[in-house]
Amino acid sequence: MPVAPTEHLYADTAGLSRAADLLRSGALVALPTETVYGLGGDATDSTAVARIFEAKGRPSFNPLIIHLPDAAEAGRYVEMDDDARRLADAFWPGALTLVLPLKPDSGIASLVTAGLPTVAVRVPAHPLARELLRLTGRPVAAPSANPSGRISPTTAQHVLDGLDGRIAAVLDGGPCPVGVESTIVTTQPEPTLLRPGGLPAEAIEACLGVPLASHGGGINAPGQMSSHYAPDAAIRLQADAAQPGESLLGFGHMDCDLNLSPAGDLVEAAANLFSALHTLDAAGKPIAVAPIPDHGLGRAINDRLRRAAAPRDAAEGGTIL
Ligand code: TXA
Ligand code: MG
Repeated sequence: MPVAPTEHLYADTAGLSRAADLLRSGALVALPTETVYGLGGDATDSTAVARIFEAKGRPSFNPLIIHLPDAAEAGRYVEMDDDARRLADAFWPGALTLVLPLKPDSGIASLVTAGLPTVAVRVPAHPLARELLRLTGRPVAAPSANPSGRISPTTAQHVLDGLDGRIAAVLDGGPCPVGVESTIVTTQPEPTLLRPGGLPAEAIEACLGVPLASHGGGINAPGQMSSHYAPDAAIRLQADAAQPGESLLGFGHMDCDLNLSPAGDLVEAAANLFSALHTLDAAGKPIAVAPIPDHGLGRAINDRLRRAAAPRDAAEGGTIL
């Protein structure tokens, strides 16, 4: 385990080139994306990928997403069918991850895919992420840059709070504008939503012209443990008001300790979600959360909140994976 403090790199030429050098040398670098910060390592280097699991303290080797600077690069690693191409054209760069068949001789370390014949690929829209991926010249495997089972990071400080001394560096790109992880879809055997996220499922369905199946096709979404994204504080959902001793996380016009979006805007609420949980968690009180509409980005928000509120022993025992 490295004992050196984590380097805090900034969004300039020196910071980017240091981050790329570190990644190319097999070290771990947390990088900003428009969704959340990723814990990046060279996806072709099995030691670097093993270090990702070690740094996160992941109890099991869940498959990871590989990040590429553009769709052409992504196409070097996966077989794109017509639906995948349509989605890539419409939504890349952006908050969409596609799970697709891995090409033979891709060079991707098998720990990335947990031995599956498919791999998750994503082209992030964040300009710093794309520049870093271009400079690095390797596919970068990156789960969210938080210790396993904890709240995902949307600022460089969140990353340092969880992983300081466990990774070589964090590249600071300011707060992540989307604020929840990417939407994960597979096109085979039929278009299927594996995880709701920063791209509304409705937009994907409109693009493909068919409804998305959910968790179908026999594909388990590995890593989707019921308790995930968990703060220390207990969470109570669908709360109209705080009970004595609770903090209230609000949505829309209401009296509360912190409001995800006073205007009732789901995009703004997603961007604020993880920061709000980090902040209220630090206050040390149980957290009551107001109801959030379950459409658009609300589906991703409610998915993350349900996991944050789930019984913790599910995470400890790792019952799903
Ligand atoms: O926004 C995001 O997606 C962030 C940023 C950093 O890009 N990354 C992220 O990675 O959320 P992670 O490791 O926390 O989530 C990856 C998810 C896991 O739930 C895993 O089960 C799923 O992707 N996944 C990866 N490969 C898969 C595969 N071959 N089949 C099915 N699911 C897969
Ligand atoms: Mg995660």
